[in-house]
Amino acid sequence: MRIVYLPGDGIGPEVMAEAARAVEALLPEARVEERLLGAEAIDQLGDALPDETLEACRDADAVLLGAVGSDRYSWREGPNPEDGLFRLRQELDVYANLRPSVGDGVDLMIVRELVGGLYFGSRGVEPDGTVFDRLEYHPDQVARVARRAFELAGQRDGRLLSVDKANVLATSRMWRATVDEMAPEYPDVQLEHLLVDTAAMRLVEDVTAFDVIVTENTFGDILSDIAAALTGGLGAAASACLGDGGVDVFEPVHGTAPDIAGTGVANPTAMLLSAALMLRYGLERPAEADALEAAVASARAERPTADEGGTADTRAFGDHVLAHLRNGS
Ligand code: NAI
Ligand code: MG
Repeated sequence: MRIVYLPGDGIGPEVMAEAARAVEALLPEARVEERLLGAEAIDQLGDALPDETLEACRDADAVLLGAVGSDRYSWREGPNPEDGLFRLRQELDVYANLRPSVGDGVDLMIVRELVGGLYFGSRGVEPDGTVFDRLEYHPDQVARVARRAFELAGQRDGRLLSVDKANVLATSRMWRATVDEMAPEYPDVQLEHLLVDTAAMRLVEDVTAFDVIVTENTFGDILSDIAAALTGGLGAAASACLGDGGVDVFEPVHGTAPDIAGTGVANPTAMLLSAALMLRYGLERPAEADALEAAVASARAERPTADEGGTADTRAFGDHVLAHLRNGS
């Protein structure tokens, strides 16, 4: 079993260190390797996604990723940490980003299309100074992510909500038609559609009302941050990026948190729960995934970090998780 760690930038390496300790305790036989991605990779190797990083990921059974982004490079032209992450997702074709939110009557799964749409379209400047980002989807890209979502809904409450902006966007009208065409294949799943602005409002009003949501890349990015904020905060939101049979990537929803990076107070919950998703979906080790989720729940209850109202720093939280894993209590 081979795992590649991509700690990335900012708090990425801080929270990754705790996930690595937990994985080592649970899977001492796993071969782990660390590779560069993002700003650190630009600094050391001149490329946000170095060839050796991509090759190591292709050869791995699972990839665990921290976060990338840095004030040194982000939000400007030139080599860009976020580009490294987007290229990684595209190269590995991990098109379905599963973002679970659980707790307090909430059991929501957002399935976000991850390798198409606005974030992957051409962008540039016209001769007259107009700046553009192109939003495009092929029906096949919609069908494959919708299929994932139908299947997940079938294994859960049987309710699927597809979110679009079909009253305005051509891509959204195609999205809705494609999803509708597939619905008869899933008679046990009750399909509904909502416009994205309405969906945002309904989420804030009552997040417990939802089961599975499927949506395109940009809408999914935004709606899943709303869902995270409503269900335990960004410090606790984990995700799985899945393709068809290749290597999958597991990563927290949050970014590099430059405002707290280097202070040792980041909440490693999202990273640890991403490692649990890796154990469950990427490495087929459900017992270890359960054990890690239980240990994290215990640490959040007994030794919470500052963002969850406690005083534990990153390491102290990780220590609690490890103690819980070792005691098996
Ligand atoms: P962010 O998620 O890094 O931070 C938003 C807020 O949440 C900050 O106040 C931060 O301190 C807090 N926060 C985030 N994670 C936390 C944790 N584990 N524990 C405690 N507090 C936490 O989003 P922001 O500030 O918009 O972006 C910062 C950088 O991260 C940017 O360069 C951005 O591009 C990048 N980014 C990278 C992502 C990725 O690698 N997947 C995802 C989102 C942003
Ligand atoms: Mg985001």
